[in-house]
Amino acid sequence: MENHSPTIDSSHEPSPLLNFVCATLADIKEVAGRMVNFVAAGQRCFALYGDVGAGKTTFTKYFIQHLNPDTVDVTSPTFSLVQIYKMSNGLPDLWHADCYRLKSQNEIEELGLEDAFSSSIVIIEWPNIIEKFLPRNTVKIYITTRPDNTRNIKIAAPAMEFL
Ligand SMILES: Nc1ncnc2c1ncn2[C@@H]1O[C@H](COP(=O)(O)OP(=O)(O)O)[C@@H](O)[C@H]1O
Ligand SMILES: [Mg+2]
Repeated sequence: MENHSPTIDSSHEPSPLLNFVCATLADIKEVAGRMVNFVAAGQRCFALYGDVGAGKTTFTKYFIQHLNPDTVDVTSPTFSLVQIYKMSNGLPDLWHADCYRLKSQNEIEELGLEDAFSSSIVIIEWPNIIEKFLPRNTVKIYITTRPDNTRNIKIAAPAMEFL
């Protein structure tokens, strides 16, 4: 896996940006594993940006499995909007949200997402509609598919020293 040294992308300043090129699912798994360091450092909210099929759910599956190896399957909570997973190691529950079908910001309240931000680990696919509700220190993960079908993963976080 190519691991480019951190680069600053002006559109996302002041967060530093780290860029990974992932040729295989194993590479995705490795990058998702690095997110565990963020959790260990107290980061609780992760937002995943990317088109349909980019690999947001795949990334989330590996992330959850790294945190709790007993987790068997992770699928997109497209209809339920939220799926809650028990964690091991005394970590709080993890909420996996998919806001693709979220119609209005009012639904965020109904889902209890705002409370989850303060009490749980939260990872969100299609976070755009709730962008302004995201905690300020949210770790933002941008996945794009390159022409050769490999994936580009960019990570923007308030602090990168945990990775
Ligand atoms: N290098 C790769 N990285 C991520 N996904 C890949 C890769 N190569 C193939 N895929 C496949 O692409 C699909 C991504 O789907 P999914 O994770 O559901 O995307 P999303 O949640 O962004 O819509 C999966 O079927 C996965 O196996
Ligand atoms: Mg998905």
